[in-house]
Amino acid sequence: MIKIEGLQKSYGEIKAVDGIDLEVHDGEIFGLLGPNGAGKTTTISMISGVLKPDAGRVTIDDADIWLEPKKVKRSLGVVPQEIAVYEDLTARDNLSFWGSLHALRGKNLRGRIDDALGRVGLADRADSLVKTFSGGMKRRLNLCMGLLHRPKFLLLDEPTVGIDPQARLSILEIVREVAGAGTTVLYTTHYMEEAQELCDRIAIIDHGKILTIGTLDELTRQSGEGEVLKLIGSFDEMTATRFLSGVPGVKLLRVMEDTAMVSVRTDGPGLLAVLPSILESDLTIDDVSIQKPSLQSVFISLTGRELRD
Ligand SMILES: Nc1ncnc2c1ncn2[C@@H]1O[C@H](COP(=O)(O)OP(=O)(O)O)[C@@H](O)[C@H]1O
Ligand SMILES: [Mg+2]
Repeated sequence: MIKIEGLQKSYGEIKAVDGIDLEVHDGEIFGLLGPNGAGKTTTISMISGVLKPDAGRVTIDDADIWLEPKKVKRSLGVVPQEIAVYEDLTARDNLSFWGSLHALRGKNLRGRIDDALGRVGLADRADSLVKTFSGGMKRRLNLCMGLLHRPKFLLLDEPTVGIDPQARLSILEIVREVAGAGTTVLYTTHYMEEAQELCDRIAIIDHGKILTIGTLDELTRQSGEGEVLKLIGSFDEMTATRFLSGVPGVKLLRVMEDTAMVSVRTDGPGLLAVLPSILESDLTIDDVSIQKPSLQSVFISLTGRELRD
């Protein structure tokens, strides 16, 4: 288990991490979801022992990262947000170098390199120079380095930033497989969909604080948000706002010229009662889509802001 207690880190006036408590249980994929600047990387850096906290502590299987760094680092794989591979080396040479830093060598190291490259689907490109790789392949190699010493815990800091959707799916699939094989994963992202699809539990972080923790179900239920109705049409902001905020069982999320979004409260009369009164109103609605309860509505209800992709 990764246990974080009262963790704090400031940069001058900025409280990057402002008193975080969390537990990542063995076997789960735990998501740390928050917008840019929320404090995700600062948190990961303190868990991995790169950055010393101002206060609080991190223990991994009861060993303190600052008191027993060697022991902890053996069981920890870290995949940093910035890609840390050498462009002028081959994939295999990057991994050999990395492995030697972790005291791996010889046949053992070679076996692990083949194994890790296979897991991220790069076996056939092992001897190509990294500078010939696509962004997605570099990300996969970056991930590979975190897997090389077969850690029990894997920390992934925004591993899909800056790559195309196809490459992103392949990273998510690799993470699922790694977790399926018994590795505990802490995954940070600012993409709601990723947290939603991938993670067993999710913590939402903003301004260095954890706002809520739970499964997707728990989070959506907690906030009292049900389905989100997205109305496409042509709206006068004031009229639409006045009308929609008066519909019983509905929470207004936002109104723009061509879209309005409301969520159906779980403690109200429900979707089937709400929908007709909206459709039969004087609003000009061309199309309605219904989204399942999502982290989008949870984030809005917690912060009053949208978590944008
Ligand atoms: N080395 C640093 N010096 C000064 N401020 C920093 C430094 N690293 C991070 N910050 C600030 O701390 C806050 C949290 O940053 P970070 O942990 O990188 O967020 P995230 O990874 O969620 O985008 C931000 O306001 C950021 O500008
Ligand atoms: Mg970051």
